[in-house]
Amino acid sequence: MQTLTATPVTDVRPAVHGEGPTWDATRQELVWVDIDAGQVRRATVSPLGVVAEVGVHHGGATVGFVVPAADGGWLLGADGGVTHLDPDGGSRVLVALDREGGTAPDGTRMNDGAVDPVGRLFGGTMAFDERTGAGSLYRVDLDGSVHTVLTDLTISNGIEWTADGRTVFLADSGPATVRAYDYDVETGSFGASRVVVDLSDDDAGAPDGIAIDDEDHLWVAVWGGGQVRRYSPAGELLAVVRVPTENTSSCAFAGPGLDHLVISTSTQGLSDEAKAAQPDAGRLFVVRPGVTGRPAGVYRGPVDALRQV
Ligand code: BGC
Ligand code: CA
Repeated sequence: MQTLTATPVTDVRPAVHGEGPTWDATRQELVWVDIDAGQVRRATVSPLGVVAEVGVHHGGATVGFVVPAADGGWLLGADGGVTHLDPDGGSRVLVALDREGGTAPDGTRMNDGAVDPVGRLFGGTMAFDERTGAGSLYRVDLDGSVHTVLTDLTISNGIEWTADGRTVFLADSGPATVRAYDYDVETGSFGASRVVVDLSDDDAGAPDGIAIDDEDHLWVAVWGGGQVRRYSPAGELLAVVRVPTENTSSCAFAGPGLDHLVISTSTQGLSDEAKAAQPDAGRLFVVRPGVTGRPAGVYRGPVDALRQV
C-alpha cells in the first residue's frame, strides 16, 4: 500500500467548514465551499500545484456544494434548495425543496452534490442534527424538473460516476459506507447497489466527499480520520494520503494537468484543544497522487425553469 502526505495551502485563509472542492475546467479554477459561512470560494491552481484565491461569494446561510453551469455561472446546493450564482457574485434561489410532503421546515440542508456525465445535477441532504434517515438525494433533469432519487439516507455525501457512466458511487456518512449503484445514463435512474467501502467497524472515521481518477478508482475523504484513501472499484484499499487534521471532508483532481489532488478540511466539532493541536484545520491541502482525474461535470439544463415534480 502506498502512503502519501498532503501539504497545507497556507496562502489561502482557512474555512470554518471547508468542503466540496471541484475543478471548473471552463474557467480553469478550483471552486469549493465553506458550508457554515455560506460561501463559495474560487482559486487558481498552477501547474506546480500552487493555490491562490481569486474570489469569495456569499451563496446562502449554508452552501453544501458548488458545480459549474453551462451558462457561465454555478449552481449551489444552498440551504434546502438550489441557488444560481452569477459570475459577478449575484445569487438567486431557483428552487426550495419541499420535503416529507410539506413545506414545514424539517431541519435539513443541502450537503454534497455533483453533475452526471450528461449534465444532470444531483444533490443530497442531511439533518443539522444528523438524525438517521432524514437525508434524501435529488436530481435536476435536463428540462429543469427536480426528482427525489433516494430517501432514508442519513448524511448524503460524495457522489461520482465511472467513466462509462454505468456506475454511480454514493457515500452516506451515517452508516459509514460508499455504495456503488447501477446507473442508467439515459434516464438518470439508480438500480441495484452494493457496498464497496464499509468503515462502520473502522475507528478511522466515516466516508465523506469522494473523487474518481482516470483508472476509475475512488479517492475517499475519511471524516474524523485525517486521511484520504484510494480504493479500487471492487473496494480494495490501495493508498492512504495522510492529512494532519482530522476532519478531511472532500477532494478533487485540479490544476491544468488535473494531476493534483486538492483536499478540503473542516473545523466543525473540534474543541478548542483540538483546534490548538491542529492549526491547519479548515485549510485546503494538496498532494500529487501520481494519477490524473476528471474535472467537474457541468449542469446543462435550464437555470430558470427548476420545478419539483
Ligand atoms: C457534513 C458534516 C458532517 C460530515 C460527516 C459532511 O459532509 O457537511 O456536517 O459532519 O459530512 O461525515
Ligand atoms: Ca461532504
